[in-house]
Amino acid sequence: MSFKEKFKLWVDVVNDALDSFVPEKDTPEKTIYSAMRYSLMAGGKRLRPILAFAVCEILDGDRDEVLPYACAIEMIHTYSLIHDDMPCMDNDDYRRGRLTNHKVYGEGVAVLAGDALLNYAFELMLNYTMQNDNNLKGKVRAMQIIAKASGSSGMIGGQIVDLESEGKKISETTMNYIHKCKTGALIKAPVLAAAAICNASENELERLEEFAEKIGLAFQIKDDILDVEGSLEVMGKPTGSDAVNEKSTFVTLYGIEESKRMLCEITEQAINSLSIFGEKRDFLVQLAKYLVERDN
Ligand code: IPE
Ligand code: IPE
Ligand code: MG
Ligand code: MG
Ligand code: MG
Repeated sequence: MSFKEKFKLWVDVVNDALDSFVPEKDTPEKTIYSAMRYSLMAGGKRLRPILAFAVCEILDGDRDEVLPYACAIEMIHTYSLIHDDMPCMDNDDYRRGRLTNHKVYGEGVAVLAGDALLNYAFELMLNYTMQNDNNLKGKVRAMQIIAKASGSSGMIGGQIVDLESEGKKISETTMNYIHKCKTGALIKAPVLAAAAICNASENELERLEEFAEKIGLAFQIKDDILDVEGSLEVMGKPTGSDAVNEKSTFVTLYGIEESKRMLCEITEQAINSLSIFGEKRDFLVQLAKYLVERDN
């Protein structure tokens, strides 16, 4: 199976699972399910669950065991996007090819839809863990990793510094901190969570962690470049948002050409960290390359 075919197959697996985990409801609170589904089922690359599946495959794990945790991370990621787009943050009107959640449902519902996705992610993981308590330690460890990555020293930690850095000239260290946390944390989480569930050895874990840290940083560098060079039609989200918000990005700090060079260099380093896996690393290598080339 080609890289593209496998990617597509896994995206379908994730979409079907998300669809069944968060169904439409006809109960008094139905609006919250509708708003959750509006953003969750709007598409998106599904990179984070795909990373979990790829790590599971490299470690000869059972994909069904990883699926709920992978979907939970996608829910948390989607919540972070709903809140990130709100007027009090980046104030963007489009996401995943449709109007942003608050534009359709209003700000109150958008806050609640984000909150609900975050809570539901943990409910889903805990339910699955209770019902499938083999390798309990690995599963609890996965949830611990996901909780930390989403929280105040992970994604939220990056978002706060991102917000406070608007309109300011920041140092290289601060820039790296923002990218490592606001984006890198939720890219590293599926890699480490899958590694915990699939019993990675110390050495495998170290290599995978290095890979994830590098592609996490590369991913946000590319996101910064696309905010300048991309298009709303292809990305499904606005360009030029960083400039309007006077954000500090890799592009404002290093310029576009240097950012592109760093993107390639860091991706190369990411790929090199997987050498111990031999041929098994092929999918992750191609994934890292796709993340450099992507236009959405
Ligand atoms: C966008 O993430 C926000 C960042 C962390 C840069 P993605 O580019 O993965 O968004 P989707 O999931 O494909 O919509
Ligand atoms: C987003 O960074 C990070 C999170 C949502 C946690 P950006 O604000 O650059 O993401 P986009 O460009 O809006 O997708
Ligand atoms: Mg933002
Ligand atoms: Mg944003
Ligand atoms: Mg961006």
